[in-house]
Amino acid sequence: MLTIDTLNQYYGESHTLWDLDLEVPAGECTCVMGRNGVGKTTLMKAIMGEVGIASGSIRFADDVELTRQRVEARSRLGIGYVPQGRQIFPLLTVEENLRTGLAARSDGLKRIPERIYELFPVLEEMRHRRGGDLSGGQQQQLAIGRALVLEPRLLILDEPGEGIQPNIVTLIGEVIRRLIQEDGLTVLLVEQKLPFARKYADRFVIMDRGRPVARGPIGELTDALIREHLTV
Ligand SMILES: Nc1ncnc2c1ncn2[C@@H]1O[C@H](COP(=O)(O)OP(=O)(O)O)[C@@H](O)[C@H]1O
Ligand SMILES: [Mg+2]
Repeated sequence: MLTIDTLNQYYGESHTLWDLDLEVPAGECTCVMGRNGVGKTTLMKAIMGEVGIASGSIRFADDVELTRQRVEARSRLGIGYVPQGRQIFPLLTVEENLRTGLAARSDGLKRIPERIYELFPVLEEMRHRRGGDLSGGQQQQLAIGRALVLEPRLLILDEPGEGIQPNIVTLIGEVIRRLIQEDGLTVLLVEQKLPFARKYADRFVIMDRGRPVARGPIGELTDALIREHLTV
């Protein structure tokens, strides 16, 4: 679904992503792990075009070269993105927040797909509340719902469980599995929490200082790898 090849990225003089390659197979959840500051969020932003890259290639679906596409075009191709820290619009209602996602659709649909309320019933109940009045967990559901409005083929989630109560983290994990199994989505997840990755991801990629250092099916995420690359 997504193939990244020799990607290099800099913030000014600071070389952040180093000759990075990554394969995100279709119909699975691939989990990018690694300590704070290793470049996970930068990688997601590079995929979405929110940071420029120095070199490399990012191919999506039927071999579209994403690095030649503008930011808006990338979501329109079918990539939903839930950035770290949620970033919903606090002054807009839940429904208005969801509607902002419609702009990224290529078919001009004007209605929020029912599926979103089916996956996150609380969003329907709170349709007329302001985003800013929701709890952190509800805001995260809203952020995911908004990314799903365009009915993406690939969903990118950057630490969706960060600072959120455990029952909502579980709900998000279950939604990820339903999206894969029932809707045929592919998921690229950034997640540092081991139990969550082990329960909901199919494969892992561990990053260290801007490059992948280990990867494989989630069953191969050993305690030795965790000790070496994940614990502080
Ligand atoms: N906008 C920015 N300008 C300069 N440096 C940045 C910027 N964003 C992140 N960085 C730096 O790039 C590195 C990777 O950050 P990030 O991708 O956010 O890591 P992670 O998501 O793995 O915690 C860190 O050293 C961070 O300080
Ligand atoms: Mg991050």
